[in-house]
Amino acid sequence: MSVKVALIGLGYWGPNLARSLNSLKEAQLHTICDIDTGRLEQFGLQYPGVRVTSDYNEVLKTREIDAVILATPVHNHFKLAKEALKAGKSVMVEKPLAQTSAECRELIALAETGGLTLMTGHVFIYNAAVQKVKEYIQSGELGQVYYIYSQRLNLGRVRQDVNALWNFAPHDFSILCYWLDAIPRQVIARGYSYIQPGIEDVVFTTLNFPGGVAANVHISWLDPHKVRRMTVVGSEKMVVYDDVNSEARIMLYDKGVSKRENAQSPSGSNRDSLGRYETFGEFQLLLRAGDVLIPKLDFKEPLKMECRHFINCVSTGQRPITDGYEGLRVVQILEAAQESLATGSAQSINVERT
Ligand SMILES: NC(=O)c1ccc[n+]([C@@H]2O[C@H](COP(=O)([O-])OP(=O)(O)OC[C@H]3O[C@@H](n4cnc5c(N)ncnc54)[C@H](O)[C@@H]3O)[C@@H](O)[C@H]2O)c1
Repeated sequence: MSVKVALIGLGYWGPNLARSLNSLKEAQLHTICDIDTGRLEQFGLQYPGVRVTSDYNEVLKTREIDAVILATPVHNHFKLAKEALKAGKSVMVEKPLAQTSAECRELIALAETGGLTLMTGHVFIYNAAVQKVKEYIQSGELGQVYYIYSQRLNLGRVRQDVNALWNFAPHDFSILCYWLDAIPRQVIARGYSYIQPGIEDVVFTTLNFPGGVAANVHISWLDPHKVRRMTVVGSEKMVVYDDVNSEARIMLYDKGVSKRENAQSPSGSNRDSLGRYETFGEFQLLLRAGDVLIPKLDFKEPLKMECRHFINCVSTGQRPITDGYEGLRVVQILEAAQESLATGSAQSINVERT
């Protein structure tokens, strides 16, 4: 039996969700809802047979609707998700899950009490290229991960309700936590507002992950280039994930720096108990620049994979990969980064058991 879904919000992103949902045989796009009646009319024509309403309460009252997907602005994610969970419906919320970690915790508790699915729309976790990089990290192919940097830049879609950090960085933060299987302990962010006072257009965030792994995230909607690139530098290899390069989303570089014992140094006595060289003259640094590999990926549309996963979780009760806790972790990082923007100082993040 197919899961009956209501999609709320038909602005920029909602129509992509409608298309993905409509292509899944295990889901039925039952209702589309937007307070903008012009958008409703337009998409009602595109999806004949799908009920249209501008009143969210209609969705909540319709018993046969199993699940709600929210693609509305972030300021009403919490309110609408809470109402849906209270009405007994499973919910997928577009990123970020809510505006505060307290709100996220409340949604998690409501979903758990009601035995309902709560999922966060962290779409990149369903992207085959992102999954491939995780495989490289986990298998040890890259060696020890030293640092990661990310650039998510573009010109346009300047928002008035959230800054560039809250708009774009949920993607980078969710990918980093997924790759490293950890959340950062400390965050420092610097942001600059040029177009609208108090709304940062460009933000540089540095995150310290456990094990000394550093990450830097550069976000901007005021940039000449469209860039969606992340680089992971490991002790053995380095990998570049470039989401806009469909021919080579992943490039694995056999590059690195290794240490070789200096033949001139007295043998046997030049390492301490941890295997480190004691003086500079006792080793040579060797640069290694080998082949570059572009792995073949079985790339399927991430948004469709995300919707399919949500529908599966609703029908089986399985816990989503990007569940409420995953949404909470990302909101915790956003809160810390926002606090750092405001105070100029580094912020610590408390790791919660989930
Ligand atoms: N995963 C991604 O790559 C991605 C990309 C873009 C946006 N998003 C997310 O999607 C969400 C929506 O972003 P957008 O850019 O489409 O915003 P948008 O402002 O273009 O569209 C939001 C729509 O929601 C409608 N709406 C607002 N309140 C409503 C309510 N109470 N009931 C019914 N409809 C309501 C508005 O009329 C509007 O049509 C945000 O959470 C954003 O972060 C995700």
